[in-house]
Amino acid sequence: MKMARALHPLFVAVLASCLVAALGLSSGAADAAAGRKMVGVYELKKGDFSIKVTNWGATLMSVVLPDSRGNLADVVLGYDTVAEYVNGTAYFGGLIGRVANRISGARFTLDGKAYRLFPNDGKNTLHGGHRGFSKVVWTVKEHVGGGSSPFITLYYHSFDGEQGFPGDLDVYVTYQISDAHVLSVHMNATARGKATPVNLAHHAYWNLGGHGSGSILGEKVRLFASRYTPVDAALIPTGRLAPVAGTPYDFRRPTAVGARIGGLLRRGVTGYDTNYAVDGGERGGLRRQLRRVAVVRDGASGRAMELWADQPGVQFYTANGLSGVRGKGGKVYDRHDALCLETQGFPDAVNRPNFPSQIVRPGQVYSHDMVFKFSF
Ligand SMILES: *[C@@H]1O[C@H](CO)[C@@H](O)[C@H](O)[C@H]1NC(C)=O
Ligand SMILES: *[C@@H]1O[C@H](CO)[C@@H](O)[C@H](O)[C@H]1NC(C)=O
Repeated sequence: MKMARALHPLFVAVLASCLVAALGLSSGAADAAAGRKMVGVYELKKGDFSIKVTNWGATLMSVVLPDSRGNLADVVLGYDTVAEYVNGTAYFGGLIGRVANRISGARFTLDGKAYRLFPNDGKNTLHGGHRGFSKVVWTVKEHVGGGSSPFITLYYHSFDGEQGFPGDLDVYVTYQISDAHVLSVHMNATARGKATPVNLAHHAYWNLGGHGSGSILGEKVRLFASRYTPVDAALIPTGRLAPVAGTPYDFRRPTAVGARIGGLLRRGVTGYDTNYAVDGGERGGLRRQLRRVAVVRDGASGRAMELWADQPGVQFYTANGLSGVRGKGGKVYDRHDALCLETQGFPDAVNRPNFPSQIVRPGQVYSHDMVFKFSF
């Protein structure tokens, strides 16, 4: 998704200095109760597969795995330090909420009551507002860094009225290496007291050739989606579901990302930033089934990634907003240097009665599973 407005510089400076002070690599038993509200970096490692997560924004900082020749690379874009994530506007690896993607006019009506949200994308709200779930400190509930299925569980309590959203919400995310080269992300949220829209999303920027290795336009993508939700100039869905057939949006067969991107560029669109309706994904209400969403393949490294999830939609974004962003190891990231596959509910669903509902009523549990299966 497009970048949002930067945080207030003073807020960033103060917070960044606190974080730098609090930062340190911690592991396992070292996560003393006193330290759990502090910001740290946590590793999960199984054999030659490892990831790093910080409780700042429940952010996935790195995913390291071999290529077909055994060379390790980190395949997600990001920063070396948490302080840079505090500053960042690209949502690298962040856990997005309370409502991912856009809400038109920063407002909605629920059960006859009108709610106003924080507009941070022109007149609209993007990715939960000015200070969404990717810009807050989460509590580390449990961290097991090694063994047969390393995991970390993070918790955030979102308060009634936060960024304008109604009701308290208890949110959990668990990152787990569930098999040799399989990363699973489980998210859930329980509404307390009031009904609220909930739409969490995980926002990793993937480059299977390794972060900083250049453009992903040559990587091949397959999307298990026959329809997408067309948008207006402000990237708000028109409400229609259109077939991908015969359009540059058709990835039903494995296709190089750049193969048909010219059709978008000619219309002044800088790349894909599109919600697809995952085939069969709209059925099942709050408890949906895991289904295959996407396969990405990088010919040069031999790495492939298969994504499974249980959400109605997936935002396919080709990092159109990146320009000269200095990331990990001094690498500079530019447009089309990564792709995002953000499984989600449809954008602006709270204002679109024909889209699958995102309303979670008091005591109900929203849940969202993603499974990334890597091969090389
Ligand atoms: C945060 O952004 C400001 C302004 O762009 C910059 O001067 C500062 O160095 C940045 N801090 C970090 C930690 O990246
Ligand atoms: C939510 O997820 C957490 C961590 O994965 C888990 O412990 C908890 O039981 C889940 N809550 C519900 C209501 O499913």
